[in-house]
Amino acid sequence: MIYPIHLYGHPVLRKVATPISKDYPGLSQFIADMFETMYKSEDGIGLAAPQVGISVRLFIIDLTILADDDASFSGFKKVFINAEIVERIGNDVSKEEGCLSIPGINETVTRKDKIRIQYVDENFVAHDEVYEGFAARVIQHEYDHIEGHVFIDSISPIRRQLIKSKLTNIVKGKVNCKYKHKTA
Ligand code: NI
Repeated sequence: MIYPIHLYGHPVLRKVATPISKDYPGLSQFIADMFETMYKSEDGIGLAAPQVGISVRLFIIDLTILADDDASFSGFKKVFINAEIVERIGNDVSKEEGCLSIPGINETVTRKDKIRIQYVDENFVAHDEVYEGFAARVIQHEYDHIEGHVFIDSISPIRRQLIKSKLTNIVKGKVNCKYKHKTA
């Protein structure tokens, strides 16, 4: 099943998502549907449950499409449940990001280059791992979603002013978005 992507302005994107337990109803189907929804959208490499309207601490990341450029991404298809970033380490790095919930907007975001994260996977096996570089960036972006944040929250006030009318259009549903979506 393909979920509609909930767009900027929808209140579900502003909620701090709640942890789930192993007996969360339909968990494996939900995860399969999350991947299906992400693959149906353009350029999706990560998707968080709040983006499909469900405020739980779950996000998925698939970087295998980038494995030709970086072999470390081969097999990088992961589910992060009940994640907590416990350390943000390393240098500040600025790079452009986009988000399926904010179509048509790409902005530079400064993030730490390295993180340590604790989570359980789709089998509720616990992990405590360090990621760096692009993987750390994508994880922090998706993690923001389960904390009720989106990437444009941390851009400069000047940039925010410049994209204000585009954001207003998204909130009003005036948006050119090819994938199934839902506005507030
Ligand atoms: Ni996003």
